[in-house]
Amino acid sequence: MTALTDSIHRTGAAAVLDRCDELATHTSAPDGLIERVYLSPEHAAVNALAAGWMRDAGMATWQDAAGNQCGRLEGATPGLPALLLGSHLDTVPSAGRYDGILGVLTAIAVVDRIQASGRSLPFALEVVAFGDEEGTRFGTALLGSRALAGTWLDAWWELTDEAGTTLHDAFLAFGLDPAAITAAARTSNDFVGYLETHIEQGPLLEERDLPLGIVSSIAGARRFQITVTGKAGHSGTPWTHRRDALAGASEAIVAIERLARGADLIATVGHLEVFPDAVNVIAGRAEFSLDLRGRFDADRDSVWQQIEALLDEICAARGLHVAVHQTHSAPAARCSDRLRGVIAAGIEAAGIRAGAAAEAEPLELLSMAGHDAMAVAHLTEIGMLFVRCAGGVSHHPDESVTEADVARALDAFEAAVLALADA
Ligand code: GLV
Ligand code: MN
Ligand code: MN
Ligand code: MN
Repeated sequence: MTALTDSIHRTGAAAVLDRCDELATHTSAPDGLIERVYLSPEHAAVNALAAGWMRDAGMATWQDAAGNQCGRLEGATPGLPALLLGSHLDTVPSAGRYDGILGVLTAIAVVDRIQASGRSLPFALEVVAFGDEEGTRFGTALLGSRALAGTWLDAWWELTDEAGTTLHDAFLAFGLDPAAITAAARTSNDFVGYLETHIEQGPLLEERDLPLGIVSSIAGARRFQITVTGKAGHSGTPWTHRRDALAGASEAIVAIERLARGADLIATVGHLEVFPDAVNVIAGRAEFSLDLRGRFDADRDSVWQQIEALLDEICAARGLHVAVHQTHSAPAARCSDRLRGVIAAGIEAAGIRAGAAAEAEPLELLSMAGHDAMAVAHLTEIGMLFVRCAGGVSHHPDESVTEADVARALDAFEAAVLALADA
């Protein structure tokens, strides 16, 4: 390798961060905010950019039948099963620039380094930039990775976005054929495993003064839309004659928080709408979302049953009607021992020790955030590398990582891939 090539490929962290900045300019939100949803013009634009970077890294590229951008570098002989590397390019509203994005760009940079080194591996390398992990547009998350995993549900075609566009019609508008969705599905035989780099989205690495960590498992999440219906009416109506949907929803939201805290689960109500939404009208209807997560699916499900009973009780006492609709469900997923070991070997090989305690093992973390890996786990073994993010802040414009940590992540992720090749 020439010195010039070496410096291009070894100083990858600055290039990765520049690419994160470039992707952040593809947004549907005003005022410098980032929002990029599935099957939007911004999605098409970032796929085109990612495809170009994949080709620069020596990969053959294609966009799959679900709008995921894919690339492949052959191994020692053409047609070998692949090690799949990836994450997502879609965002939440008012997003940061690294959630998902960093994982895609790390994967591309690592493939670039490996192909530049001329090493041939006993497996192919594939990179996937999933089109939907967050579920921002259609409420159901992991659509991209579920298409690849072959767990797509036909019922999803009728999901609608805020403008009333169905997922089916959004496919057509993006130039995809809904009838061809099964072509996005891969099989277990296609892969030797899946590795994903992601920002931690939590404070533990920072608290332990560690740049990188290994994910042990990913908590499962369920999401619901809850509709409380009362009776709209004049704000001068006496207490004896009011059926205030917002007051009932508020009591329920606080009670859900108390219940979930007591059960060591996480519950988030991040969306609330009130109808008719006027200062001098009692709320006739209140709709809110609930996102419920926990280490164990069984605990989460039993707390959900208690929440349902609580909703019935609170609403009955106020003469309100309550309806619940599940919008998303993903089971918890465990990272395999083998790929946890491979990530640990990568962290070791990159010379990153666990903080001050030089003898300590790299830190293993449970992820309370959802990841594409949990869908891919249906097909193949998964492993995840976490990168420290400032203050643990994510799903916020303040999301940030350091160039030094990204450089460490690149070294560790590359070393993990090579450790698997040598295993
Ligand atoms: C998305 O980031 C999620 O964890 O739900
Ligand atoms: Mn996210
Ligand atoms: Mn993410
Ligand atoms: Mn996520």
